[in-house]
Amino acid sequence: MPPNSKSLIRTAFEYSLLIVPLYLLAGAPLLRSFFGSPGETDDEVADLISKLNTSTLMIPDEDLICPKSTYVVHILSRDPLVAYIEDFIRNDEASHLVEISEPNFTPSTVWAGSEESHDMTIRLSEKALLPRDHTVKCIEARARAFQGWRPDVFIEELYSQRYGPSGYYRHHFDGGVSSSRFGRISSFMVYLDASCTGGGTNFPKLKRPENKSWCKFIECGDEISKGIDGEELEGITFKAIKGNALYWENFRPDGSMYEESWHAGLPVKTGTKIGLNIWSWYQKGYEELLKSQKSP
Ligand SMILES: *[C@@H]1O[C@H](CO)[C@@H](O)[C@H](O)[C@H]1NC(C)=O
Ligand SMILES: *[C@@H]1O[C@H](CO)[C@@H](O)[C@H](O)[C@H]1NC(C)=O
Repeated sequence: MPPNSKSLIRTAFEYSLLIVPLYLLAGAPLLRSFFGSPGETDDEVADLISKLNTSTLMIPDEDLICPKSTYVVHILSRDPLVAYIEDFIRNDEASHLVEISEPNFTPSTVWAGSEESHDMTIRLSEKALLPRDHTVKCIEARARAFQGWRPDVFIEELYSQRYGPSGYYRHHFDGGVSSSRFGRISSFMVYLDASCTGGGTNFPKLKRPENKSWCKFIECGDEISKGIDGEELEGITFKAIKGNALYWENFRPDGSMYEESWHAGLPVKTGTKIGLNIWSWYQKGYEELLKSQKSP
C-alpha cells in the first residue's frame, strides 16, 4: 500500500458522508429505488438496470423534419466539457414551450436517493412535464445532434421549471447513480423566459474565463450575485438570458462524477424565470435492444 492511500481512503469516505445528504437528484430518478453508490458487479448493475424506467427515455422519430438551427457555441471548459450556446431556442419556440407548460405546473420536488419530497429549503419552483409535440421532438433532436448523435444516448422526457420572486434551487448534482454503462451523462439548462432580475446559474467549481467577452453571459464585477443565504459565491454565475443555454457533462467515461457540475439556480429577485432542463441518459446496449425488438 502506498504511504498515503490510507488517508486517501479516509478522505474519500468523509467526502461520501458529506455528499450523501446533499445527493439530490434534479427531476425524477430513472432508477426508481436506489440509495448508495453504483454497483460494481455484473449482478448489481443488472439489478439497477432492471429498475430503469425506460418509458422516460424518448425514442427519436425516424422521419422527423425540423427547422434548421442557427445557434452559436462558445466552449467554456474542455474537461469537463462545458459549452455556452447562444440562441439555442428561437423566440417563437420559447413562447410555445411556455404556453404548453402553463397547464402542467406543479410544485417541484427533490430526490435524495429514492425519497421524493417538497423541500422548500432546497428548491422553490414549479415544474411542468412538456407534452411531446412536434416542437418538443425537434428540441430533443437538436440536443441529440449537439452531442453528435452519440450511440446509446437518449433524451429524457422534457420538463420546464418556473421560478417566481425568491424562487431558487440550492447547489446540487443533476446526475445520481452512474457507472461506465449508464447514467445521466449531460445536462442542458435553457432559459425560456428571463423576464427577471437575479436567477443566474452558479457553478462554484468552474474557473472564470479570462476574456471580458464572456461578461455578456456571465456576471462580472459589480454584477456578481450573492448566494441563497447571502454568502459570497465562487466560480461562475451565468446570467439568465432568454433563448440561450448551457451544456455540461456530469460524468467521466468511467462513470465518476465531475465535481465541476455542482450548480445552483440563484434566487429570482423580481419577475419570473422559466428554464428548460434537457437531460441525456446513456444506457449501454439499449439501442441494440430496441433494434432487435423492432425486427421480427
Ligand atoms: C415511468 O415513467 C412514466 C413516464 O414518465 C410514468 O408515467 C410512470 O409512472 C413511470 N413508472 C414508474 C414505475 O415509475
Ligand atoms: C478578448 O477577445 C477579443 C476578441 O477576440 C480580443 O479582441 C481581445 O483582445 C481579448 N481580450 C483579452 C484581454 O485577451
